[in-house]
Amino acid sequence: MAQLVEQELLNPSDYIPRVVGRYSPLLIDHGKGIYVWDVNGERYADFTSGIAVVNTGHCHPRVVAAIQEQAARIIHAQANILAHSPMMQAAKLLTETTTPNLNQVFWTNSGAEAIEGAIKLAKVATGRPAVIAFKGAFHGRTHATMAVTSSRVKVRGHYEPLIPSVYHAPYPYLFRSPYKGAPEDADLFYFAELEALFDQMVMPDDVAAILAETVLGEGGYMVPTKRWMQMVRELCDRHGILLILDEVQSGMGRTGTMWAYEHFDVVPDIMAVAKGVASGMPVSAVVSDRALMDKWAPGAHGGTYGGNAVGTAAAVATFEVMRDEDLPGNAARMGEILMAGLREIQADYPVIGDVRGLGLMVATEFVHPDGSPNPEAVKTVIAKAFEEKTLLITCGTYDQAIRIVPPLVVTEEQIREFLDVYRRAVAAAA
Ligand SMILES: Cc1ncc(COP(=O)(O)O)c(C=O)c1O
Repeated sequence: MAQLVEQELLNPSDYIPRVVGRYSPLLIDHGKGIYVWDVNGERYADFTSGIAVVNTGHCHPRVVAAIQEQAARIIHAQANILAHSPMMQAAKLLTETTTPNLNQVFWTNSGAEAIEGAIKLAKVATGRPAVIAFKGAFHGRTHATMAVTSSRVKVRGHYEPLIPSVYHAPYPYLFRSPYKGAPEDADLFYFAELEALFDQMVMPDDVAAILAETVLGEGGYMVPTKRWMQMVRELCDRHGILLILDEVQSGMGRTGTMWAYEHFDVVPDIMAVAKGVASGMPVSAVVSDRALMDKWAPGAHGGTYGGNAVGTAAAVATFEVMRDEDLPGNAARMGEILMAGLREIQADYPVIGDVRGLGLMVATEFVHPDGSPNPEAVKTVIAKAFEEKTLLITCGTYDQAIRIVPPLVVTEEQIREFLDVYRRAVAAAA
């Protein structure tokens, strides 16, 4: 374990505004693998991955070495002024993992910026103004990304006016579907709601893009059906609409495949990538086909820091670690053990209404006996897990679910230890 650093203990609330809500009181010193250590030397198992970011684990030695080496060479080689190897190498490695039509990478700095870029590209490429997004989605906090976000009203409320010409359809939330027919047909109901926008709200040839999280994250970890996703793809094709998939949270091996779209046998026209792409360095990307990217004239979009040399060097190391350690494969294997263990806990404690997810993008939704959302149980479980030195975060509009998103380097032993902690925490809430 690394030496704890001597530091003056400042109070976050003196310097950092309260808008930065805090999930834990921890003042952190360092991290390694799935663990972080606070300034008192206490170790915590991080089942948040810093909101699904450190997929290679905290401070993977190869990522650390790449950052150190690049920082000593050049930190800021501005992309419009100087090309550099990490930026291109990372794009090459990224596009080697994607479908052939995702072959060029516009580097940005955050998930929101990637979504902004994706929407701008879709508008320019189609010459159309409108975007269709899904209820419950989270895409970021800039003005355009707030407009396509509806996971919680506090993200967008009080910021109006947002960008116009955004239309919302319900995303398949199969656990709470209003559809009263056969459960296996619920996805058809959701698709019909989407298609009805064209009868009631917007002409299809005014729509530049349909934007969807491949697996819905912040809004509750909802996994759509393959059929629904394929119908959305087909709808786009029918009307010349571009399909933007937001893989900011679901990408980079998280769901047991490198990209979540692989589960659904669909191919996006534009993909937004962030979070896990550089193991915690602020790197994100808009990924698309050269033919589409060519519609962006030089200078029609840009940014000072996009493709930062240190950030993309971290991305290079991240892709190499993903490949060499088969982290998507580990996510698939560990995810199965995790889901099976959670289902056993659910069988004993009906306060868990639903266990859902893909790979290591997993959530449990908590319910009252009448089936209504139970955020109080969520609070208790998170607090109890924290007492046992395990970090967890919520998701869902009502904070009715807990997401379980450990780094993809997690071992079976660590998953089983976690399941023991979780069982005790759920028992306390039941
Ligand atoms: C699916 C998705 N898209 C976009 C974003 C926005 O990313 P950022 O916070 O880096 O702007 C997030 C962040 O949680 C996300 O989960």
